[in-house]
Amino acid sequence: MELYGLEKNRLPTHVAIIMDGNGRWAQLRGKTRLEGHREGTNSVKTTVEISRDLGIRYLSLYAFSSENWNRPHDEIAGLMGLLEKFLQRELDRMMCEGVRLMAIGDRTRLPASVRRVLDHNIYLTRHNTGITVILALSYSGRSDIVQTVREIAWKVKTGQCEPGEIDESMIAANTETGSIPDPDLLIRTGGEMRISNFFLWQIPYTELYITPKFWPDFCGQEYIQALLEFQRRKRRFGKTDEQLLQGLG
Ligand code: IPE
Ligand code: IPE
Ligand code: MG
Repeated sequence: MELYGLEKNRLPTHVAIIMDGNGRWAQLRGKTRLEGHREGTNSVKTTVEISRDLGIRYLSLYAFSSENWNRPHDEIAGLMGLLEKFLQRELDRMMCEGVRLMAIGDRTRLPASVRRVLDHNIYLTRHNTGITVILALSYSGRSDIVQTVREIAWKVKTGQCEPGEIDESMIAANTETGSIPDPDLLIRTGGEMRISNFFLWQIPYTELYITPKFWPDFCGQEYIQALLEFQRRKRRFGKTDEQLLQGLG
């Protein structure tokens, strides 16, 4: 297996990506924003394929935020159409490559036709074991936390647990990512230095990698660069270098 100079046993378990910059990529080329989004789907394919080949267990892709509903209607309709076609077209490949598809976010806001193909693909790929791809659609990190608080409040109200029993693991288990481990690496393309309401609870010690490259230009080589950089990082989790050296990490 090609490892591109990466250390096999130090790969991230979970990579999350904020796929930004499609509009600017298109604008630079005198194309429509939608053409930028279309071009971006190639980067999705490349990233999933490399992740799977390397044995990365989870890949979360921020495709559409709750706030993105405030975009012009035409752009939203175009994006939803692209998403629907992408999901239809990619099902065979997902089955061949062992991709298990999941979705997080408020699916009730998605058009019925998108929801249908999404649910269909999630169902058909549910036993695949190659890689889990988590599509964040109509996702909001804050809404995720609000929903979690509601669920736990309900458990307290109905006597299923005491307030004193609420701990980090209970909160984590009730977020949309549930039992999925926190991302080790969060990549943002397009250069913006912000989280834009993606994972909030899930990223306390996630390594951040922000590249000015626009998402459609984020090729395999760029991804490998990000992974190599991740492997150069020292993850201290609050400890000292000395403690890490002594193997107390
Ligand atoms: C990211 O690209 C895709 C979505 C948010 C749906 P953008 O559409 O935000 O591209 P820029 O940031 O305008 O370049
Ligand atoms: C973040 O990109 C959301 C996605 C990539 C899906 P945006 O383009 O919406 O982020 P802001 O508005 O620049 O923060
Ligand atoms: Mg953007």
